[in-house]
Amino acid sequence: MILAGKDVASEMKRQAKTVIESNLQRLGRAPKLAIIMVGEDNAASQAYVRNKLKACDETGIINETIILPQNCTQADILSKIKELNQDKTTDGILVQLPLPAHINVAEVQEAIRPDKDVDGFGKEHMGACWLNVPGIRPCTPAGIMALLHYYDIPLAGKNCLIIGRSNIVAKPLAAMLLSEDATVTIAHSKTKNLFTLSQTMDLIVVSVGKPEFLPPAAVKDGVILIDVGINRNEQGKLVGDVNHSCYDKATAYTPVPGGVGLLTVAQLICNCVQAWLTH
Ligand code: GUN
Repeated sequence: MILAGKDVASEMKRQAKTVIESNLQRLGRAPKLAIIMVGEDNAASQAYVRNKLKACDETGIINETIILPQNCTQADILSKIKELNQDKTTDGILVQLPLPAHINVAEVQEAIRPDKDVDGFGKEHMGACWLNVPGIRPCTPAGIMALLHYYDIPLAGKNCLIIGRSNIVAKPLAAMLLSEDATVTIAHSKTKNLFTLSQTMDLIVVSVGKPEFLPPAAVKDGVILIDVGINRNEQGKLVGDVNHSCYDKATAYTPVPGGVGLLTVAQLICNCVQAWLTH
């Protein structure tokens, strides 16, 4: 079975649009998202931001993109965030990652007011995620959970492996799977015998950013595969972190493109609506 992120994302955006339309009059203004992007030479970031803006337009979220130069200072970014924190018409603030090496990412993330932190990357929401209490959930992992729920994939007692240890995908996803009673393992570049470990897993999420990293020999028959990667291979073709030959062994898998990437954007829209409803 193909886990079509596209269908789930469309449904999530449709619901967000309905919520916006039905609350617009009461709240007196449409939701607004501000995206800060530093530098203009990261093609992947440009593509992500373009998709986020398009989804805002589709659903009725006012959007503003602030582009700061690659060589801007930490203070420049913090000052922009401060201004947006104070702006009563801005509901969500998102700083597109990655940031240049001279920027302290953690400090930038903490500068965003928690009620406007639509990425959910600050300590308040990340803590809420681990405690399984209400908060804004990071977009990619929350989108993956929405996909698993949409397709009624049972998680309780399942052996789930997350390959990758990022703050924005792997760690919050581990918390979310754990909250649904999965047995969760996080693997990374120092993990020993990774592809032996992975052979025992019921569900594998790959988020390493390496074209076709996971080979078919590393998975068991009946596995569920969630591919977070969006890479160009040597031929310039868009591929995920999962080798296509794994699909033959899988019960269900997310394609690239058309999988997780669309869910990240749809979840962002939902998070913006959630922030707007509290303002
Ligand atoms: N870069 C890659 N994924 C994301 C995301 O979900 N949010 C932000 N802000 N930057 C990203």
